[in-house]
Amino acid sequence: MFENKCFFSLATLHVIQSTKKMKSVLVTGCAGFIGSTLCNELLNQGYRVVGIDNLDPFYPRALKEKNLNTCLSNNSFKFYESDISDKTVLGKINDSVDAVIHLAAKVGVRPSLNNPLEYIQTNIIGTQNILNWMYERNLKKLVFASSSSVYGNDTPVPFSEAAHVDHPISPYAFTKKAAELLNHTYHSLYQFDIVNLRFFTVYGERQRPDLAVYKFVDAIFKKRAITMYGQGDTSRDYTYVQDTVAGIIAALHYVFENKNVFEVANLGNNHPVSLKELVETIYELIGEEPNIRYEPKQAGDVDVTFADISKAKKLFSYNPQTSLRQGLTNFIVWYRTQQIN
Ligand SMILES: NC(=O)c1ccc[n+]([C@@H]2O[C@H](COP(=O)([O-])OP(=O)(O)OC[C@H]3O[C@@H](n4cnc5c(N)ncnc54)[C@H](O)[C@@H]3O)[C@@H](O)[C@H]2O)c1
Repeated sequence: MFENKCFFSLATLHVIQSTKKMKSVLVTGCAGFIGSTLCNELLNQGYRVVGIDNLDPFYPRALKEKNLNTCLSNNSFKFYESDISDKTVLGKINDSVDAVIHLAAKVGVRPSLNNPLEYIQTNIIGTQNILNWMYERNLKKLVFASSSSVYGNDTPVPFSEAAHVDHPISPYAFTKKAAELLNHTYHSLYQFDIVNLRFFTVYGERQRPDLAVYKFVDAIFKKRAITMYGQGDTSRDYTYVQDTVAGIIAALHYVFENKNVFEVANLGNNHPVSLKELVETIYELIGEEPNIRYEPKQAGDVDVTFADISKAKKLFSYNPQTSLRQGLTNFIVWYRTQQIN
């Protein structure tokens, strides 16, 4: 009896100690594809999470609300429906957090050609507002979502973070590069610890409906032809979302554990796949005969993305594990459940 009591109080002590150590993170873009997957994982790992998202109409609000469901049922999650480009609204958020993971953005390369100002507003002014929000609260740990699109079409493969990326070929890429530079200013002036992560074509459950894997699977299940831009010889370093999320959390640990940090690191898969191979694999996994309509290559699209991931491996043991076939299978299973529910 006494032993049991003693065991119980030690266990309680352990819970109290781990609760004390629990860190809080502010995640912008928390209702999105990567953001909501990240928030779920952070909550599973015991973090407290404050999420900000304006449920931007780039794709249906209902999908973003669905993405948030699991988080909202967790007491360690608090959500603000707020626009990061409005600094007055942002100024009213006063939760105490230990770090920021800044994912909120106007996304998509092709749509950015039609409305560059909106991209500048959210991706540059919004990032400035987040940095200023942190500065005012003496908060100095930041992980930022940049993009492989900053490499443009001139960079030798595999893309190394040491490459010069001064020739963006879309407004979206320009805003991501600009935000990386803005982050550096805060590192230099105010000693912020920052990792700029360059994501490479992330896919998986909850993927944005504007992205290739989603569009292809959706077209096949709806018995429509797939539209392929170019001849299928462009290639992308497709990265499964759980691998990206593991990389983001590893980068978060890195900024927590180190001082005087300013790093740029690729979170890719180091294994580019041609569009033709992607499409063939999807048709094979679903078990349908290919039905493809060819269109000319789109302006702003790069020919290849291919990440050198040795830096992320060395700095924070980033190690993507998921094969394309496995990741696509997981996506297709998820897609089917979405059609039923
Ligand atoms: N998915 C990819 O392949 C990929 C590749 C490279 C970089 N990225 C970057 O990763 C991040 C997440 O991308 P995602 O694919 O999950 O996109 P997503 O559109 O699903 O998520 C972005 C979220 O940001 C929110 N948002 C947009 N403008 C906002 C604003 N003004 N205020 C507050 N919230 C706002 C949106 O509502 C959305 O929920 C973005 O920064 C994106 O640029 C993604």
